[in-house]
Amino acid sequence: MDRALKIAILISGRGSNMAALIENLKMHPKVKFCCVVSDNSQALGIPKAKKMQIPTCVIDGNLCSNQYVFEEKLDTYLQTHQPNLILLAGFMRLLSAKFVAKYKGKILNIHPSLLPKYPGLNTHQRALENNDKEVGATVHWVDEKMDNGEIMAQCRIKVKPQDTAQTLSQRLLPYEHQLYIDCVRKLLNQIRDTV
Ligand code: GAR
Repeated sequence: MDRALKIAILISGRGSNMAALIENLKMHPKVKFCCVVSDNSQALGIPKAKKMQIPTCVIDGNLCSNQYVFEEKLDTYLQTHQPNLILLAGFMRLLSAKFVAKYKGKILNIHPSLLPKYPGLNTHQRALENNDKEVGATVHWVDEKMDNGEIMAQCRIKVKPQDTAQTLSQRLLPYEHQLYIDCVRKLLNQIRDTV
């Protein structure tokens, strides 16, 4: 068994979760961040990853005629790195059942809601409209359904009277970062326990 966890991170945007993961885990002896892939050529996370000296790849979803073409390119690129773990970090594209089956049990996602509440977009706005007293984020294993799959861990914050969707998103973000880091650390500890 390869004792280093080779981690690929998939992003679509600013990449703050990606940066927090890399910053906090890059020195871990059992971690190698093998690549960062974006489906968006404008993703701000790509220059950040380059600065952190992680190999990057853009597979522009808009230039792929369909999901399968995109996923074939993604799979071909990932095969050159052979990741043991794929972290979706603000990756805003649904992966097909075929792709998920190929990487079964190796893909984690972070979603800004207390799943199973509010899969999809505008999670904080929907929580406010429902007068929820708390919001949160979930790290879960990925299956072929959107923001679905076995939950690994959640974090939560209380909603304040003056909160908007934007302030909730801003206030939750550092907790998201810590949650994702803790989940990866938990997996690393499990590897250590079994080898
Ligand atoms: C994060 O809030 C993440 O939870 C969310 O996108 C944001 C990405 O921010 N993910 C989803 O909505 C997935 N369904 P980041 O690019 O700064 O990490």
